[in-house]
Amino acid sequence: MSIKIKTNEEIALMRDAGKIVAETHLLLESMIKPGISTFELDEAARKFILKNNAIPSFKDYNGYPGNICTSINEEVVHGIPSKKRILKEGDIISVDIGAYYKGFHGDAARTHGVGKISEEARNLIDVTRQSFFEGLKVIKEGNHLHEISSAIQNYVEKNGYSVVRDLVGHGVGRDLHEEPQIPNYKTIGRGPKLLKGMVIAVEPMINIGRYEVRWLSDDWTVVTMDGSLSAHYENTILVTEDGSELLTL
Ligand code: MF3
Ligand code: CO
Repeated sequence: MSIKIKTNEEIALMRDAGKIVAETHLLLESMIKPGISTFELDEAARKFILKNNAIPSFKDYNGYPGNICTSINEEVVHGIPSKKRILKEGDIISVDIGAYYKGFHGDAARTHGVGKISEEARNLIDVTRQSFFEGLKVIKEGNHLHEISSAIQNYVEKNGYSVVRDLVGHGVGRDLHEEPQIPNYKTIGRGPKLLKGMVIAVEPMINIGRYEVRWLSDDWTVVTMDGSLSAHYENTILVTEDGSELLTL
């Protein structure tokens, strides 16, 4: 396997897939308030994606039971929507959505506050989102993957938070997860060179406390080991000659 370069025709389809993901996010954002269940969010996303002639990417992926992922407070990613999980004032929730349209996936995540949230929670959400944009700044043809990882980690740690190590971003296209893996922290080497036509999903997962995580017994939900709050932000990105294009924003 190697990193795929998308053709112009493929990129046009990925823009469409990404737009569906972005619009689904706007719909769910408008629904997030105290009292709503994560199942209701999942249902709304499923219906909206199907109405747009796409399919939820995550459903049945390696047996994943939901259509989207909804991860509350100390849950990092891959929380499974449930009628029993009711959002309450002060929670933070990461919503992760994928849509498969005409052979291609779009993938994006956002973290929202429910009602009024603490200053600390607000700052975590803001730093997580901004860390993505710090990574985005160094994306262009000719740069190396490692520069994205470093930019994210430096920004996050400067702000006193920690970067999850056990989960990473990824290439995206005909498959939800393609090469390369994209860590949000420095690793050995420069990583592959970015070339125009690559499409990648950069997705920092940031904890207030320590970076270690564990898996719950449902085999999906990832939580922080120390119980601290965690936030997540992700977009699908096309690498271009002089920068990048966000396909899910
Ligand atoms: N955005 C996440 C990812 O890239 C969502 C995957 S959830 C899964 O890993 F269920 F599909 F695995
Ligand atoms: Co992803």
